[in-house]
Parts: sequence; C-alpha cells; structure tokens
Amino acid sequence: MLLIGPAGAGKSTFAAAHFKPVEIVSSDHLRGLLANDPADQSASADAFRILTMIVTGRMKRGLLTVVDATSLRAADRARYRGIAARYGGPVVAIAFDLSPATYHARNRGRADRVVAEDVLERQIDDMARTVAALPSEGYSALYLVRDDEPLEVARGA
Ligand code: UTP
Ligand code: MG
Repeated sequence: MLLIGPAGAGKSTFAAAHFKPVEIVSSDHLRGLLANDPADQSASADAFRILTMIVTGRMKRGLLTVVDATSLRAADRARYRGIAARYGGPVVAIAFDLSPATYHARNRGRADRVVAEDVLERQIDDMARTVAALPSEGYSALYLVRDDEPLEVARGA
C-alpha cells in the first residue's frame, strides 16, 4: 500500500490510525535510524535502499506493507509496483489530494518537522501532477483523501 502526498499531508497520522507499527515502512523512521534525524536528507539514499529491501522482504512473505513516504516521483511508485508484481501482491494507493491551504496549515501546525514553504510549494506542484497520473498507473485500488470528505474511491479493485 502506498500513501502518497506532500510533507505534512497526514500520511503518518493516517498510517498510525489504521495499521500496526510493524506494517508501516517509513522513510523518516529509517533516516532517523541511520542519521539520528528523520529530516536528514543526506541519509535518504541509504534510507530508500533499506526501505526497498524491507518492502521486498515483506512482499516475499505476502505481508501487508504500508510505504509511508511522499512517493511523489513516478519512478519510486513504479519500483514499488514492480516489487509487488514480482510476488503477485496487489498495490493499493491512497493519495492525500488536499487543498494547498490545508497542506500549508498542517505543515505550519506540526509539532515535529516543519518543512520550508518553498520545498512544500514544489511538493504541492508535484502532487498535482501525481494525482493526474495515478489513475493510469494500474493500482488494484486508488483512494483519494480530500479535505473534509471521507475516503473517495477513485477506482475500485
Ligand atoms: P503527518 O505527520 O501525519 O504528515 O501530519 P505526513 O504526511 O506524515 O508528513 P511527512 O511526509 O512525514 O513530513 C502532519 C500534521 O498534520 C496534522 C498532524 O497532527 C500533524 O501535525 N493532521 C494530520 C491533521 O491535522 N489532520 C489530519 O487528518 C492528519
Ligand atoms: Mg510522516
């Protein structure tokens, strides 16, 4: 399962509400393990190598796996779909398609890591492209989380 959205969209909050900690593979958590700081971008390459290894190991065992990362790059999403396909597992995408005002408000209101406004702006632009691309990426199911709405089923399984 892929949670897709800019920093502060609410991915980790959603994951914690719906899944067990062992089911969630988080790029921030892995950066924290590697560099003592979940925001240390210099640890990203190592973090994503390890994330990919964990996702592969869990998919091999047929275990539900939630990737908690922004996943705004098409190549990253394709890699996860490829791993799932290799082991015959479905891939569900949950995209946090919120208004720019909500992204900014959640980012500003965070107790932990507040991301720079210009970085968030770029991610919001990437998210618009991502939301447009997702329906043709071939997910088993695609859900959009919208402002003040229950999960919208964009395409059924
Ligand atoms: P998260 O910390 O869940 O965002 O929420 P994220 O998508 O995982 O961010 P990155 O990618 O790790 O950086 C960010 C803020 O938004 C609030 C949370 O309480 C947190 O302060 N939030 C989340 C809401 O206010 N409402 C929600 O429905 C979800
Ligand atoms: Mg998070």
